[in-house]
Amino acid sequence: MKVVGFNGSPRMLGNTGLALDVVLERLADEGFETEHVYLCQTPMDACDSCGACNRNMDGNCIIVDAFSEHYARMLQADAIVFASPCYFGGVTAQLKGLMDRAGNVARSSGDQLSRKVGLGLVTERREGGLATLHQIHDFMMASGMVVAPSDGWPIIRGHILGEGKDSEGVEYLESLADGAAWLLRALDGQAQF
Ligand SMILES: Cc1cc2nc3c(=O)[nH]c(=O)nc-3n(C[C@H](O)[C@H](O)[C@H](O)COP(=O)(O)O)c2cc1C
Repeated sequence: MKVVGFNGSPRMLGNTGLALDVVLERLADEGFETEHVYLCQTPMDACDSCGACNRNMDGNCIIVDAFSEHYARMLQADAIVFASPCYFGGVTAQLKGLMDRAGNVARSSGDQLSRKVGLGLVTERREGGLATLHQIHDFMMASGMVVAPSDGWPIIRGHILGEGKDSEGVEYLESLADGAAWLLRALDGQAQF
């Protein structure tokens, strides 16, 4: 089973990357195929509300950029991680653009993200992370996804590059990976209830 993680940080070597790696490496150790996608490497436009996806209902966005590659990754994945630093209490523009376009394309083409497992994780300097996590979870619920459980909120505190190593936060990230692994196996009929 495949897990793709989208990193919404504009900083390649930032705290969000460290946090996403914690989750993806634990899932890889559990035998899942994983991929870490840095949105800052492939700039994308925001949704321009042109309505083409609603009219065409063909699973595409007509803006030509990296979105189509990312959306294909989502469709191929069993689970999708959305990871973002908290920016003024919400996700970064990079991740919001991906969520808006993917959400609209998916809804207009038979709810293509429905029943995929979703994992949200957030990094913050001090506060606003929970609102950001809610924003990610709200997107997932509106898209028919199944939100993976964790013991505690998967939010990491850190500010300067590489600081995102707070030990309690890392435990929550590990529990998110464990919860997603359990959920994926349960949906596949392998896990014990
Ligand atoms: C534009 C901007 C807005 C931010 N807003 C918040 C905020 O509302 N709350 C907070 O705790 N940290 C805020 N931060 C700090 C980042 O969330 C924090 O440094 C995070 O670890 C950065 O992740 P990165 O290393 O992956 O870039 C903000 C940073 C920037 C650049």
